[in-house]
Amino acid sequence: MARAGQNTPLEGIDFGPTGRIQTEFPEPAPLSEHGPARIISLCNQKGGVGKTTTTISMGAALAAYGRRVLAVDFDPQGALSAGLGVVAHDTPTIYDLLLGHTKDPHEAIVSTKVPGLDLIPANIDLSAAEVHLVGEVAREQILASVLRKVSAEYDVILVDCQPSLGLLTVNALTASHGVLIPLECEFFALRGVALLIETIDKVRDRLNPAIKLDGILATMYDSRTLHSREVLERVVEAFGDSVLETVIGRTVKFPDASVAGVPITDFAPEHQAAKAYRQLARELVARGAVA
Ligand SMILES: Nc1ncnc2c1ncn2[C@@H]1O[C@H](COP(=O)(O)OP(=O)(O)OP(=O)(O)O)[C@@H](O)[C@H]1O
Ligand SMILES: [Mg+2]
Repeated sequence: MARAGQNTPLEGIDFGPTGRIQTEFPEPAPLSEHGPARIISLCNQKGGVGKTTTTISMGAALAAYGRRVLAVDFDPQGALSAGLGVVAHDTPTIYDLLLGHTKDPHEAIVSTKVPGLDLIPANIDLSAAEVHLVGEVAREQILASVLRKVSAEYDVILVDCQPSLGLLTVNALTASHGVLIPLECEFFALRGVALLIETIDKVRDRLNPAIKLDGILATMYDSRTLHSREVLERVVEAFGDSVLETVIGRTVKFPDASVAGVPITDFAPEHQAAKAYRQLARELVARGAVA
């Protein structure tokens, strides 16, 4: 019996870190036409679990497979914008789109150094958005109406949420077809996930019946520690096949790539972590979460 965390070569079969037989996900076929986009929120109210890193790295990997990707920075910290080398000083941001200061999302979209990967940036202004939006009509649906205007031009839109379950995150979930939950492989990882799933269920009941859990992504996994392996085993016990086969290892290459303002897939394309994010991109295509 293979257990999560054991990489047992049983009669030549490779069990991955999640304890399942490892699948070779094929390279995605090129798309002959683009859009409409599938919108995926990267969501976990716990901070520092890899939401932004995953948005950048997976976005770049999907773009390298010929997908047209729009990344939306939905965190006032602006880490996604910074990680893609974009500083939004006096250009329109997602805040201006939400508040209606800027009507056309094209005015806020910037291209990044990664071909095929565009960005709607954010800055600290966004921290005031919840207060301003509270009194709006259909306040949970504002991001959805913004993204609808550009959806036809992209294959996938990735919304990098802030670590909270407030109105902005509810907007992200309401706009999304799917949600991807990055989960750090450490002791408190599972804390709060029940609340997150409850929030997704409420959004499904009240606002967005079609939303799906696209997957739970284990991040910062260290195969050398029993602790990491045990946490992953618990996560697989709790969520079964919702846990993606791809697991992201812990490595200092990520902070290094962030400083350089480029995705790991460009910073160190042959590094294990870059390979893992390319595999994640292929797995999501294989699962039908991305065209
Ligand atoms: N697999 C990894 N191995 C090592 N460090 C990582 C890994 N993934 C991300 N990091 C680092 O951990 C920190 C937090 O990652 P990241 O910003 O992606 O998390 P987040 O969930 O977006 O955080 P927040 O909730 O604050 O938005 C960053 O410094 C990042 O470089
Ligand atoms: Mg983040």
